[in-house]
Amino acid sequence: MDWKIGVIKGDGIGPEIVEEAMKVLDAVARLYGHNCQYRQLLMGGASIDVHGEPLTDQMVEEAKACDAILMGSIGGDPAVSPWYRLEPSKRPEAGLLKLRKELGLFANLRPAVLYDTLKEACPLKESITEDGFDMMIVRELTGGLYFGERYTKEVDGVRTAVDTLTYQEEEIRRVAKKAFEIARARKGKVTSVDKANVLDTSRLWRSVTEEIRTSYADVELEHMLVDNCSMQLVKNPRQFDVILTENMFGDILSDEASMITGSIGMLPSASLKESDFGLYEPSGGSAPDIAGKGIANPIAAILSAAMLLRFTFHLEEEADCVEESVRNVLKLGYRTADIMTDGKKQVGTREMGSLIAEGLRKK
Ligand code: NAD
Ligand code: IPM
Ligand code: MN
Repeated sequence: MDWKIGVIKGDGIGPEIVEEAMKVLDAVARLYGHNCQYRQLLMGGASIDVHGEPLTDQMVEEAKACDAILMGSIGGDPAVSPWYRLEPSKRPEAGLLKLRKELGLFANLRPAVLYDTLKEACPLKESITEDGFDMMIVRELTGGLYFGERYTKEVDGVRTAVDTLTYQEEEIRRVAKKAFEIARARKGKVTSVDKANVLDTSRLWRSVTEEIRTSYADVELEHMLVDNCSMQLVKNPRQFDVILTENMFGDILSDEASMITGSIGMLPSASLKESDFGLYEPSGGSAPDIAGKGIANPIAAILSAAMLLRFTFHLEEEADCVEESVRNVLKLGYRTADIMTDGKKQVGTREMGSLIAEGLRKK
């Protein structure tokens, strides 16, 4: 099969971790006889440096011409990076939001799985983690607070800032359907997370998910308030199968879920629409504090590449092969600094990528 993959290396640790994901993709392609071609695309701070804006329309067109996009992460440290002296619509993050919107990527899948081998890196106590957990967060990605009208201005001499949270029923319906489809192929439970005791958007969210449930009689639906959910995640993460939630709640809950798998450096993501096209990126950021040090964990990027194989190309065996290699390397005791525990072997970004690429075994 021919793969045409757009690559956005991005900023900070982005280039370091994407290199490793490409190393692994190249190795899978060799092993299974696929032809992998990359097209480098600019976004975020790297694009601002060249074009003065975080994402040009030409890049959007080039992205659309690819089968899938593999991305690192964008952005810098707002306290020191000159990118943050620009107006908000010209900053790195605006490029990512524009790309998600222009490509119509409304469903963001973030799987949080605790591997047996990483229980010691999980900050929760053993009695909670002994049986592990495996949940899929389905985050709405092109609506809500991120895309509502916003402004800051003086009103009657008072500095006033406004962000608008809007959802239309169809935006909820399409992402809810994804969540139900995914749950059907897993343990069959959707936990829809909202703030329906306060927000109108959440009350609409509940009504629409209830309507969708009637087409999925085999899937259990429960509703949970977001504050309770953030607490339940650390109290009993095993109760969750699929978490369905809106854009902002999903952003926050997925970082929390990542940490109980050991590190934000472990959490991949897939941003999807109705077609096979997808954008695959780690859930975490550009980690300016460790950029350039060669110590970032590339596993989230590598697992994102596995999601790319699964969701865009439907190559289950190849995707399993990558995931299997990640598990084996962890079983052998190799760890990057963020998941390091007593008695394990610490390796850098490149070594971790090479170990996973070299450990691939065709089934
Ligand atoms: P961050 O996720 O970049 O970093 C938070 C902490 O996690 C840091 O201590 C960092 O070192 C650590 N970390 C993150 N990824 C890691 C990895 N792969 N291996 C080891 N440690 C890792 O969050 P932040 O510091 O709040 O944001 C930094 C920048 O990244 C900001 O500009 C933000 O807007 C951007 N960001 C981008 C994306 C994206 O591109 N999708 C996601 C989140 C944040
Ligand atoms: C993420 C990031 C982005 C988001 C930022 C960089 C805009 O935090 O992908 O989780 O909030 O969606
Ligand atoms: Mn985030």
